Amino acid sequence: MNMKRLIVFCLSVYASASAVENWDGEHYQATSRPQFEMAEWAFNTLPKKKYEAILDIGCGSGEFTKELAKHASYVLGVDYSESMILKAQDLYGNSDDLSFQVGDIRELNGIDQQFDLVTAFHPIQWIPAADQPRAFTRMADMLVPGGVCLVLVSDQQNIFYAPLMDVVQRPRWQSFIPDKLEPWNWQTVASVRKSFKQAGLRPLSISVWYKKYYFASRDEFLAFMKNWFFNAAHFEYVPRQKRYELFREVLEEFLTRINYNGIGAVVFECPFVIGVAAKLG
Ligand SMILES: C[S@@+](CC[C@H](N)C(=O)[O-])C[C@H]1O[C@@H](n2cnc3c(N)ncnc32)[C@H](O)[C@@H]1O
Repeated sequence: MNMKRLIVFCLSVYASASAVENWDGEHYQATSRPQFEMAEWAFNTLPKKKYEAILDIGCGSGEFTKELAKHASYVLGVDYSESMILKAQDLYGNSDDLSFQVGDIRELNGIDQQFDLVTAFHPIQWIPAADQPRAFTRMADMLVPGGVCLVLVSDQQNIFYAPLMDVVQRPRWQSFIPDKLEPWNWQTVASVRKSFKQAGLRPLSISVWYKKYYFASRDEFLAFMKNWFFNAAHFEYVPRQKRYELFREVLEEFLTRINYNGIGAVVFECPFVIGVAAKLG
């Protein structure tokens, strides 16, 4: 292990001691185009300006973080996945205007500066409900007075919820799955507003958007969805060798519900919440 990998590894053990964290930076980079497009939409809701410093939390493999660097003097990408940060560093390195480090949104230790924009494109739904207030508070702490927080998170009407809940109630899965399953912490306009306010941020705009997904084949769809499922809390309870089976069963149930014909493109729409709030000056 070289020095860079060793440092990132040590930081990540510290940052994610109790987290479900199996993200694969290589796979994510190859399959996450829809996420990039959504981050772009969310960012484009902000007024055009040059920022001093942007903190991108849950930056993944860094593709959109790199994009943010066109709009700021300095951008820091933080993610609690060592694999994601290694991929981002491999692709974009660490420089004076763009760098990446391992860190958990609930802690954000070792960041000794503040930012005029903090972005969180999709990390929020991975954080347990009990830790959500802390995540929002830490984002607020990172802002200069007057700074802006931009959050992108899946809406509770997410169309994967029903097939997942249906499948996990089947007898063969029930012995693994706890009674109260919190698969992802999908949000609503109201819950994002409440979280902003609790963190001392003033909501500026919060709205639901619809993303149309298009995958040329079932395999492309499955590859994308692997990012979602293998990092979600319910997989903690399922023995490792059975996880792929559960994944396939949920997605087959989903495809049946959207009347997928078995060949050709997989196309569907899913809602997201984009929230913008400001730290009082
Ligand atoms: C769906 S990916 C989004 C990545 C990137 N922002 C994008 O839009 O492509 C969600 C990311 O959130 C990160 N994440 C989840 N929980 C986190 C936490 N507690 N702290 C920091 N990052 C977290 C994951 O490691 C993952 O890289």
